[in-house]
Amino acid sequence: MAKKIKRIGILTAGGDSPGLNAAIRGVGKTALGYYGMEIIGFRDGFRGLVENHRLKLDKSTLSGILTVGGTILGTSRDKPHRMVIDGRTKDMTEVIKQNYKTWGLDCVVCLGGGGTQKNALRLHQAGLNVITLPKTIDNDVAMTDATFGFATALDIATETLDRLHSTAHSHHRIIVAEIMGHRAGWLSLGSGIAGGADVILIPEIPYDVESIATAIRRRSKHGTNFSIVAVAEGAMSRDDARAFAAAEKKLERSRTLHDKKEAKMEIAGLELRHQGNTLRLAKQLEELTHLESRVTILGYVQRGGTPSAADRLLATRLGSACADLIDQERYGVMVAARGEGTEPVPLERVAGKRKTVPLDHSWIKTARRVGTCMGDA
Ligand code: F6P
Repeated sequence: MAKKIKRIGILTAGGDSPGLNAAIRGVGKTALGYYGMEIIGFRDGFRGLVENHRLKLDKSTLSGILTVGGTILGTSRDKPHRMVIDGRTKDMTEVIKQNYKTWGLDCVVCLGGGGTQKNALRLHQAGLNVITLPKTIDNDVAMTDATFGFATALDIATETLDRLHSTAHSHHRIIVAEIMGHRAGWLSLGSGIAGGADVILIPEIPYDVESIATAIRRRSKHGTNFSIVAVAEGAMSRDDARAFAAAEKKLERSRTLHDKKEAKMEIAGLELRHQGNTLRLAKQLEELTHLESRVTILGYVQRGGTPSAADRLLATRLGSACADLIDQERYGVMVAARGEGTEPVPLERVAGKRKTVPLDHSWIKTARRVGTCMGDA
């Protein structure tokens, strides 16, 4: 008997990242051209599945997108089970299930980071066939060697640190460069090493401002009157890290709704205060070292533009392997990068976990050995 032609849906969710189009193309070209499947793109993340907002994906739409930044499908941070519809937050899981059926889908491919893995697992548990790909510039998705988007952002952040060197050197200044990464230090650590930052601050190692100032003063004493500080957006002083940990523990231990609400408000307050952290740090360093200091926040530049060759290759590899898994009907998995190959990992082992930098990671050792201050000594 002839095999039924499979029809798959595909969406991109969460913050955009370079390589998303390369991944859409990788899934699409293999699914269409190699396996003869049909493919429908859903716009703006999970919202497209709710609102039936689609983009036809055929040979011509998939052509010419390999090098293009962003995502041709659009993206959003909408969650299927908590979506704002007409100003009200609603659980749209049943609507998604109905639309999945109406469109005769055999599987939905969700391209995203940590949040997307959780949302995809929920849909899988609700009865949908789901496969995910790991995307984010933060590189913090669990159970995969790498995520696409990271390599490009690493190149951009490194080039920025390179450029900051000459101006910091000319003006004898401290330049504090804030780098993205959410609550993981991969991007700051990697670009800090590659870009020769003098100080690298990551969330995994709470810092002591005095120790950083001592390292900078030591450089001045040896005749180098400038310093580059690469600080992860999630990096914190020891005091702040303690306060966050206490509030998170409080939330974890809350038994009543009232206690939960109070702990959540405390965390929100700390998060709000943290937003000005890089500026505060630069000011403190200026006061402690008597060197003029400036701040550069890299921001969304790190997520924009054409993907690097490494990201195009990774995204294409993962995308193509995803089509193989659909052909084999292996659902409920994330296509992880494993060495030169790929591996399907059950979503239960990925969702809700975050891959942070282990304290014994070789990058941390390397940074310390070349004399980089990590903020703790
Ligand atoms: O996850 C990618 C990321 O760029 C993080 O590095 C950053 O914390 C966050 O997204 C910013 O999110 P948004 O696009 O919602 O401002």
